[in-house]
Amino acid sequence: MSEQSVVRFDVEDGIGVITVDYPPVNALGPGVSDGIIAALEKGEADPNVRAMVLMGAGRTFIAGADIRQFGKPRAVPAKRTYDVLDQGKKPVVAAIHGYALGGGLENALACHYRVAVPSAKVGLPEVQIGILPGGGGTQRLPRIVGPKVALDMIVSGRHVPADEAKTRGIIDDIIPGKDLRKEAIAWAKGIADKRPLPRVRDRSERLAEVKTDPGMFDTARKQYARRMRGQPAPEKCIQAVEAACTQPFDEGIATERRLFGELENSPEAKALRYAFFAEREIARIPGLPKDLKLPEIKTMAVVGAGTMGGGIAMSFADAGMPVKLVDASKEVLERGIGRIRDNYATSVKRGSLTQEEMDKRISLITPVETMEEIGDCDAVIEAVFERMDVKKDVFKELDRVMKPDALLFTNTSALDIDQIAAVTSRPEKVAGTHYFVPANVMKLFEVVNASKTAPETLAAAMKLGRDIGKISGYAGNCDGFAANRSRIPFTMEQNLMVEEGALPHQIDKVMEDFGYPVGPFKVNDMSGLDISYDTRKRRKAADPNYRMLPIPDGLVEAGRVGLKAGKGWYRYEKGDRTPHVDPEVEALIKKVATENNITQRSFTNEEILHRLLFGSINEFCKILEEGKAVRASDLDVMWLHGFGFPRYRGGLMFWGDTLGAREIYNQIAAWHQRYGARWKPSELLRRTAEANGKLAELKADKLR
Ligand code: 3HC
Repeated sequence: MSEQSVVRFDVEDGIGVITVDYPPVNALGPGVSDGIIAALEKGEADPNVRAMVLMGAGRTFIAGADIRQFGKPRAVPAKRTYDVLDQGKKPVVAAIHGYALGGGLENALACHYRVAVPSAKVGLPEVQIGILPGGGGTQRLPRIVGPKVALDMIVSGRHVPADEAKTRGIIDDIIPGKDLRKEAIAWAKGIADKRPLPRVRDRSERLAEVKTDPGMFDTARKQYARRMRGQPAPEKCIQAVEAACTQPFDEGIATERRLFGELENSPEAKALRYAFFAEREIARIPGLPKDLKLPEIKTMAVVGAGTMGGGIAMSFADAGMPVKLVDASKEVLERGIGRIRDNYATSVKRGSLTQEEMDKRISLITPVETMEEIGDCDAVIEAVFERMDVKKDVFKELDRVMKPDALLFTNTSALDIDQIAAVTSRPEKVAGTHYFVPANVMKLFEVVNASKTAPETLAAAMKLGRDIGKISGYAGNCDGFAANRSRIPFTMEQNLMVEEGALPHQIDKVMEDFGYPVGPFKVNDMSGLDISYDTRKRRKAADPNYRMLPIPDGLVEAGRVGLKAGKGWYRYEKGDRTPHVDPEVEALIKKVATENNITQRSFTNEEILHRLLFGSINEFCKILEEGKAVRASDLDVMWLHGFGFPRYRGGLMFWGDTLGAREIYNQIAAWHQRYGARWKPSELLRRTAEANGKLAELKADKLR
């Protein structure tokens, strides 16, 4: 694209209007900054221009630097927009709609004035992609809002709504935004003759705040230490804001630039950039026509008011969508609604939700006792007990009561959706919409394509997930679908390693050091060991060759079902969730190993990490080979949003590439020799290793 077309300049009524037009989000891609500079210079030179407006065409102001350019060699620009704005003699007003993020807000902060429409959002989210604001944001923002608020905004990366931005002085005025260009021109005319020009770089009064609160930087370090463990960017953001308070402006800018340079190519920044694009790519399903006419989903129903059904109902209410929650048992329904109320009340108590918002959300959830009452909803999600006969009965009922064009979704986590769809007269309108626990919190929304699911149904389900703020990901219909299936080897090795001599707290520590917020055994204790025990027993009853897991089984049989019992893999004090290592567990492990003739040995941390993660990489490859997922990066996104995989590692396959497919394949092949069939290497993995290929770039040949 040529410079002329990405940035336009025209003059109306004495006001030069600079319009950035670089779809979809006006990122500062090739030619954009140069285009803005050229326009500013034109405006300066034109005697008819009294002031200028900087605005974005399309849906937004400027979403920041072009993230795709990071990590690639770039020429040092001869001039920077910020400097040109600082040196300008005519006032420039940034007129913000949509988003002013990162370099977008930095450009706006270098303008003399900022106005925004009520729905606009501003922020410096660079930390979320492992870097820091490198266009003066760490130096200008503290000069406006004070270093304390700047720390909060820069280290969290949060988006700030227009009204808060106005209160904090980031923007000067809120304009209606009915006709952005016209209103911005009118506003600019109002300040065109004002002198001197207000420049943020010249302000220092807010920086004095640090004198009354010199500990604010250490407080920020403590506040973010846990959340940002293993990542260098938050610390460098803090250092940059500290520099704003201790160095003259130009020196502070140089410090910011140096710190930015230290981060741009860090492994964490590369991983976070990968995650950013993978999260967008996952929305695309190859082969789906772009012009599909999707059925509209405005009203939802959820069948089953248990913990899962309740969480699902909340996910719709949270997004402002009306939802009916049906359960044949009045008691279960009342308990379900009570649980929803309690969950919201906890958020109100914590301050993350207002009472008013809670009341609004509760009013969107209508409990009903008969299936007939949900018949007029556009779609329904079934979340009843995980048994095929029960699901089939529900779907027969749904087929009977739901209006003919309603979509029927199941939240099953493993059952064959073709069998469920087959009991209805509309299998083309049936798909899986699989939530992760807790359903109202976890962002992953796995959409399962059964063999008769129509493309419209599939696309509507994907859109439904996105509409409620989740990340929709495609999976084929197979046991465990894509996410849970790829996770099975992890859980299996976790338990087998304990039989072989690794201790639960050692494994937890390895995974926490790797970046998981909580180790897998602690997670098991929180969710309760009894559920998976019951599943194992059911599977054993159906298949005599199924291998039970003697250690977790023994724990459950000894009443150690987890946190709720005060003991599981760990021991807990009454009223306290802190896990304590328990010698009784060690004794039980030793006893079971002896009884089962398993020789125990010690494990290195590396072996633990690789045993836990390599099996799932192998399974990812098998899933792709079978065409049950679109691409490796989708599975990475599923692990980020379904299982808490550390984001700054990009994803499982991305992390695998840091070791190399060859090393992983060789180790898996060796374990195949040693441990047998469960480590059988996938063909796709073998081919990738031989070709020195990238795991994260793998794709299914064909979806099946
Ligand atoms: N660079 C390159 N591409 C970008 C981009 C960016 N900064 N921001 C968005 N895009 C692309 C997306 O990849 C997507 O492309 P696709 O259609 O090919 O998948 C497209 O724009 C639309 O993006 P979304 O799907 O995310 O659109 P939404 O409307 O849901 O969200 C948004 C809009 C809130 C602006 C979101 O895109 C976003 O958060 N973008 C990133 C913002 C950001 O991090 N800015 C800081 C960049 S770093 C920087 O500025 C450094 C500076 O300090 C020097």
